Amino acid sequence: MELLGHLHPFLVHFPIGILVIACVMIWIQAIRKVDYQSSITTLVLLGAMAAILASISGYILSISGDYEASQVALHQWWGIGTSFGAVILYFFQAYQKIISLFLFLALAITGHLGGELTYGANYLFERKKTSSTTQTKLQSLDSAQQKITIDTSVQVVNSAKYFPFQDEVLPILKSHCFQCHSSKKQKGKLRLDTEAFIKKGGKEGKILWEGNPLKSHLYSYLILPEDDDLHMPPSGKKQLTSRQIAIIRRWIEIGAPFGVYPMHATAYPMHASDISGHASDLFSHASDISGHASDIPKTMELAAAEPADILEVKAHGLSVSPAASHPAGLSLNFVNVKNLDPPIWQAAKKIQHNVLVMKLTKRKDIQVEELLNFTHLQQLNLEQSNVQDKDLERLVQLPHLEQLNLYGTAISDQGIKALTAMKALKVLYIWQSKLSQEGLVALKTARPDLTIVEGKISFSPPDTNRLKVIK
Ligand code: HEC
Repeated sequence: MELLGHLHPFLVHFPIGILVIACVMIWIQAIRKVDYQSSITTLVLLGAMAAILASISGYILSISGDYEASQVALHQWWGIGTSFGAVILYFFQAYQKIISLFLFLALAITGHLGGELTYGANYLFERKKTSSTTQTKLQSLDSAQQKITIDTSVQVVNSAKYFPFQDEVLPILKSHCFQCHSSKKQKGKLRLDTEAFIKKGGKEGKILWEGNPLKSHLYSYLILPEDDDLHMPPSGKKQLTSRQIAIIRRWIEIGAPFGVYPMHATAYPMHASDISGHASDLFSHASDISGHASDIPKTMELAAAEPADILEVKAHGLSVSPAASHPAGLSLNFVNVKNLDPPIWQAAKKIQHNVLVMKLTKRKDIQVEELLNFTHLQQLNLEQSNVQDKDLERLVQLPHLEQLNLYGTAISDQGIKALTAMKALKVLYIWQSKLSQEGLVALKTARPDLTIVEGKISFSPPDTNRLKVIK
């Protein structure tokens, strides 16, 4: 049975070939007044039988679950219609000229829909992509994904006993990958249903490198553009949300533990308790991390913030969470703050040395002077905010700034010049600003070491919320 299903792509060529020849002979006979009728009758009979066989094998293939049901349906009904058309052609020879026209059309449509199922939509006009999995391309895709990671991996886990693989990663693999990578099927010679199989990898070898998501195909294939041949899950299948991708990334980053994972033993928490109102979680976290500070190599001398100060900041509506880059570091998110009043900045200043990450997205009331107090800032997100060219000149005073997001701002060539003086800056997000092509080239020339993310990232609505990077 299953073999018959797998033979479908092979079997479909028979009805197509035979019925096309029959149609052409019908038309030649009509135009040139020759008599091919007995051959035509035989061909149509053969073609009808082949079409029925192809329909049956196609049906068996469709219930194997390899293809998305909604996509299959259209092809399936056109296929059945075509078989039906061939049968009608056989029994109503008096009308064969007109019927053959419709049959020819139906064959073309069915074949095209089938091709889309096998090779992906637009396969006719699109050059087949070579898998350009170059490290540089992945890195830019990854930094785009990381940007999302920061904003999406928001969850609080109270239990100290925490099994990140069992609790978080496995359900994702189950719902999105098992269909092709488990005991049922081993596409790419890969199974993802046990620890041993995941560690073994697929036909290209290892897919998991603990601590290195970019090197791990288990992660890097997820962030490839969807039209790339190696994008997983293949295009047309149910896609991962950016949050699910973020979970897999984090899990690999923290060493891909299959067993229990001690929540507080590392500076890279799986879950940042970014949700305000969970102060106690954050406290246990923050103090615990500082208790372990001696275990963690430090690049910067920094004492943990006072829990009371953190509470006060949170009382003003700010979200506070641990920053990944330093055990005592904190990330401030202003998303729930109505107005950036002086009291807010006063409270935030109490933890100013601990703030390494700051998110001021979509704010129209930013006074750049206030930011200058946070001299340890490493990441600053000002996307879609009111920052101006002249503000950037002041930001040069932040000596540790490594990542700056200016997406969707009014920054132009004038302001961007100031960035060349930001020695620590490594990554700049700059799409949809007023920057001209010349300005961009000038910046690249002045700072060849800077990673500039200039592509567009767009989100579809929540459910189909997948990452798209348009080059
Ligand atoms: C509809 C089937 C399908 C689904 C679902 C699917 N894959 Fe795949 N996967 C394939 C195919 C086919 C290949 C082989 C691609 C090739 O080598 O050209 C593959 C190959 C891979 C490889 C490379 C293996 C190797 O060493 O060559 C990885 C890694 C992978 N998939 C991960 C995943 C992950 C993770 C998921 C779930 C998020 C997933 N796949 C979901 C069909 C699928």
